[in-house]
Amino acid sequence: MHIPVLLQEVIQFLNPQSNENFIDATVGEGGYTLAILQHTAPFGKVLGIDLDGEALKLAEKKLMAFGERVIFRQGNFKDIAKIARKENFESVNGVVFDLGLGTFQIEESQRGFSFLRDEPLKMTFDPRNTLTAEKVINEMDVNELAKIFREYGEEKNAYRIAKAIGEAREKERITTTGQLVNIIMKCGVKKTKIHPATKVFQALRIYVNDELNNLGQALRGSAEILEKKGRIAVVSYHSLEDRIVKNFFRDQQKEGVLKIITKKPITPTKVEILNNYRSRSAKLRVAQKII
Ligand SMILES: C[S@@+](CC[C@H](N)C(=O)[O-])C[C@H]1O[C@@H](n2cnc3c(N)ncnc32)[C@H](O)[C@@H]1O
Repeated sequence: MHIPVLLQEVIQFLNPQSNENFIDATVGEGGYTLAILQHTAPFGKVLGIDLDGEALKLAEKKLMAFGERVIFRQGNFKDIAKIARKENFESVNGVVFDLGLGTFQIEESQRGFSFLRDEPLKMTFDPRNTLTAEKVINEMDVNELAKIFREYGEEKNAYRIAKAIGEAREKERITTTGQLVNIIMKCGVKKTKIHPATKVFQALRIYVNDELNNLGQALRGSAEILEKKGRIAVVSYHSLEDRIVKNFFRDQQKEGVLKIITKKPITPTKVEILNNYRSRSAKLRVAQKII
């Protein structure tokens, strides 16, 4: 089961009240949605969006008791404004994003999100996606691969790893996370505190799912559908995402559309990190619509 990260803080800043309506743009296993529904009783509604139909099914089951107060839609949050309008959620009191991976995806989906498991090399949030990590690893030019590892993983040994992948795939197609991890481990990168495959996996996931472009579009769409005083809360897990959120809020504040509520990002307490290691890199930023 997924333990929602920074849940208390997200709820404190979103400040849901009776009968208000919210969008959970990354519903996952429904941890935030559940808390919002509890705070917006008796008539408040939540539109829960997720790209992953399998995760959505888990949330649907968990939140069945809320009946028509919760609507689930499989979709990409980059289309949030379109989805919201279609579902009559065009003027909402708040939107929340919890970026990255849910526990279900890492532990059960078997889509190769973790370098600690030997699984098919997919890394797609949407299981129907035809661009997979396998395709990228086997078919992309070595220089392009290195560019992805550098840009999306901030990986210092990007070219060395890409070259090793290029050589290995000439012998046999790379189809599993186990094969990829072996190649990275054997190509002579220096040992650091983190697992040598961490950044390559992050980079591949971002590329395969077009995560940074999606986030930019989703933030713009969210600002459109928020009503006056409505809040947007984003929990991110790495600096590339956090930078996009920070810059978007700053630009929108300059234009007089949003006001930044969290001058500095909110991070988990030591106790939360001890109880939920996955929360360690989380950062919450919140802004409020002023016009
Ligand atoms: C960290 S989990 C959310 C966990 C959730 N807050 C909970 O408490 O259970 C992130 C979710 O975002 C979804 N996701 C990632 N990119 C997405 C996108 N572009 N559009 C919609 N959902 C996306 C993933 O499929 C995943 O289920």
